[in-house]
Amino acid sequence: PALRARGWDGVWIDAASALRMEDTSVIVLDPLNRAAIDDAFAAGTRDFVGGNCTVSLMLMAVAGLFREGWVSWISSMTYQAASGAGARPMRELVEQMRWIGDHSADLLDHPSSAILDLERRVRDGLRSDGFPTAQLGYPLAGSLLPWIDTKLDDGRSREEWKGDVETNKILGLDPSVPVDGLCVRVGALRCHASALTIGLSADVPLDELEAAIAETSAWTRLIPNDKDATLAALTPAAVSGTLDIPVGRVRKLRTGNHLTAFTVGDQLLWGAAEPVRRMLGIAREHLAG
Ligand code: HSE
Repeated sequence: PALRARGWDGVWIDAASALRMEDTSVIVLDPLNRAAIDDAFAAGTRDFVGGNCTVSLMLMAVAGLFREGWVSWISSMTYQAASGAGARPMRELVEQMRWIGDHSADLLDHPSSAILDLERRVRDGLRSDGFPTAQLGYPLAGSLLPWIDTKLDDGRSREEWKGDVETNKILGLDPSVPVDGLCVRVGALRCHASALTIGLSADVPLDELEAAIAETSAWTRLIPNDKDATLAALTPAAVSGTLDIPVGRVRKLRTGNHLTAFTVGDQLLWGAAEPVRRMLGIAREHLAG
């Protein structure tokens, strides 16, 4: 804003949340909103901002359903990696893992030791003063943290609020589609996952829903809803360091006209750097004219 106030009209590209919801910015996720980016550029917009990681990853997974107009609402339950909190929390998660391993080594090395002795050793360790929590604030290894970011007046966390407002802004939805759920930090290092419940606006057969998901983007991969395929491909261990966006566990729920799906994506790639990296190329195309 200080640069703009001084009349600077250069292209600003970032991944922070400060400018995301301003009317003067576009949230960039070009496989899904390239036309909006191009139109905004042509109309003089110069602020381009990467979206919140869970939002970008969710949309790279299921935007095909929005394209068809089949989504009435989404409940998104997230499983977010330490990478979303930053480099030092990532390091601390591994330190926590090491601490647990070191402090239980004598019991672990004796398979005949009682499992509840091992569990008590770990539990007491997580609660001890010596356990490393300077970055994360609490134990994450061997546990989970069901709160990300600050609290809003209505009881949502800011991370949960972003799921709603950013989804609607990126896809330009009018009328808006409500997105809500709980955001949870888990002991993964760099991949965020989400369990989605999707309220459908029409009674669409499962194979058509699957086809729409698979067509979401060139990186979206539909994983068959069977155990081996799921456990081989739909995990942070399988996806970390790749641009793949696997979507699986796709089936109709017994609760009504609701679809469920599980998706995993690399928080540091499509969740952070990749949309912004690609925006730099798009800006250069426009400026080259
Ligand atoms: N806010 C996200 C998280 C990462 O804490 O996991 C950035 O989008």
